[in-house]
Amino acid sequence: MSVRKVTVATLAGLKARNEKAVFVTAYDYPTATFADRAGVDMILVGDSAAMTMLGLPSTLQIGLDEMLVFIRAVTRAAQHAFVIGDLPFLSYQPSDETAIRSAGAFVAAGCDAVKCEGGARVAQRVRAMVDAGIAVMGHLGLTPQNLGQLGGYRVQGKSLAAAERLLRDAEALERAGVFAILLEAVPAETAAFVRERLGVLVYGIGAGPHVDGQLVISHDMLGNFVGDISPRFVKRYAEVGTNVERAFREYASDVRAGVFPGPEHCYPIDPADESLIRAARQTRKARPAARSVPAVEARP
Ligand code: KIV
Repeated sequence: MSVRKVTVATLAGLKARNEKAVFVTAYDYPTATFADRAGVDMILVGDSAAMTMLGLPSTLQIGLDEMLVFIRAVTRAAQHAFVIGDLPFLSYQPSDETAIRSAGAFVAAGCDAVKCEGGARVAQRVRAMVDAGIAVMGHLGLTPQNLGQLGGYRVQGKSLAAAERLLRDAEALERAGVFAILLEAVPAETAAFVRERLGVLVYGIGAGPHVDGQLVISHDMLGNFVGDISPRFVKRYAEVGTNVERAFREYASDVRAGVFPGPEHCYPIDPADESLIRAARQTRKARPAARSVPAVEARP
């Protein structure tokens, strides 16, 4: 059966019908396949891969080439979902040409759109990418590539003045040609204030219900993020990390106890051949056992 690919027009249609878009991050082929089969509308290959997949301390340490590995895996999997590649730190800020080349590499790797962080100060880069024919999503509110300036993972847009600043940035992005804006970690009322004043699609991650769709980092909802960050806006739908660790412990215990592999995990052969090989094992001289290895520390 052929699967309909989500486009910008599909997303606009959802908004027109007052239906919420379902948006998750994914970085690898299996997760993107499961998300796609589950019918999610959009997949972000986020630079959060730095933390979720590579164990790095922030998103600032991932580069374009590493992102491209994740992007190729996800675009290979996504038959239905609209795939957005997240431009990493310094892949678009330096110049219009850098932005077009970086975004172009993501599109060549199969992305339907790219995302970049910031408002008025990146508007010129957004315009350059849009003029090159690339669909761009803006990202405002908590923008982790500016963590130093923001002073940490803090909720943004908490006062009317801050909400108005957010709106001015959103309007600059809209004028520059973005098809959508993602608001991260802002109060629900602020997100509603911004969305009601824009013509473009507005999605949220930790921005409350009054937006056109919800994004969540898949590791947060699936319970397989290894780290201490646990945002208030995350709802857990699975305990993948706990289950994976339990499975590895059970496997280790089975191997050490000699109960894995069992007969059902061994390849059967013709009984006559089996008898001949068994007899040969007994009659032919085996190699002497390996010399004893040095003592090792006890296992954990
Ligand atoms: O990299 C990412 O996953 C993101 C989301 C946190 C919005 O940018």
